[in-house]
Formats: sequence, structure tokens, C-alpha cells
Amino acid sequence: MKSTDILSNEHRAIEIVLDAMEKSAKRLESGDEVDLATIDDCLDFAIGFADKCHHAKEEELLFPKLVEAGVKRDGGPVGAMLHEHEEGRSLLKSIRKHLDELSAGDEEAKEPLAEALKCYANLLRSHIIKEDRVLFEVAAAALSDEEDEELVKGFDDIEERKIGPGVHEEYHRMLDDLAERVKMM
Ligand SMILES: [Fe+2]
Ligand SMILES: [Fe+2]
Repeated sequence: MKSTDILSNEHRAIEIVLDAMEKSAKRLESGDEVDLATIDDCLDFAIGFADKCHHAKEEELLFPKLVEAGVKRDGGPVGAMLHEHEEGRSLLKSIRKHLDELSAGDEEAKEPLAEALKCYANLLRSHIIKEDRVLFEVAAAALSDEEDEELVKGFDDIEERKIGPGVHEEYHRMLDDLAERVKMM
């Protein structure tokens, strides 16, 4: 599989979590009962799988290769993607804070929690579209087969280094469970 296909497949996984976040936000807003453990799982996935692992593959390996191939960083597409990763990180901190407040019984935290969940999902959805439709197309055209193979090897190394051996597979199992829960929401 090509490096960009691996990353696109991971986008499909992340989208399941975004579905769960959006549905949870709706329930918070309408005053319906919300399973806080599901939001906690979404957060765990967004931090461990999406940010630590997927974004690291892009930031440490794919983006530098693109810059080498002539894609603009500062003021260009790579810089824009890096900025959005940062924005996502700050929204995840905000989700953590408000989720902890709500878990401790502070009902006032519902509104800002719903807002942060929606903002994160919106940000990531548009980010994913830009990568899938534009940046990865550029990458696929710019990278030689050897460079692509090197990237794929590097991705495996990042999985081991960032989240530990076998954990990536564990996230995929967690995702199946989350996908089932999303259907019931
Ligand atoms: Fe990204
Ligand atoms: Fe991505």
C-alpha cells in the first residue's frame, strides 16, 4: 500500500470518531443523556491515534518529503496543515478540561464541551478533505517508489515509537466498538 493510501485509510478511521463526537455534542445540546465514557474514548483515540501517531507520520515524514519536493511550507499548504494540527491540539485540551468538569458534576460544562467537540470535528473534517483531495495527490505525483517505500517503513517505526507495538491494532478494535455505539446514538 502507498504511504498516502495508509494515511487516507486512517482518515476514514478518524471520521468514525468525528461522527461520535458530533452526535455526542448534539445530545449535550438537546439535554439528552450522554455517555461520558464514549466521549472519553473519542478523546483517547483523537490524542493517541489521530494526533500522536497519524499527525506524527505527516509532520515527521510526509510533510518534510513534500517540502523537499518543492511544496511550499511557510505561507503554503504544508504550513497550513501544520497550523491546523496545532489548532486541533488546543481543542483537544479544551475537550479534556470540560469533560473533566462535567464528569465532576459541573452541568455548566455541557455547553462549552459541545462547542469544543463540534469545533474539533469541523476542523478535522475540512483538514482531511484538503489532505485527501489536494496534498496527497501532490505527494503521490511527487514521490518515487523508493521514497514511498521509505515512508511506509518510517510509518511502522512511528507506530512502535509513539504508541508502542500492537497498540495501533488495539485502536482499530476500539474503533469497531465505537462504530457500533455511534449507530445507537
Ligand atoms: Fe494532517
Ligand atoms: Fe491526515
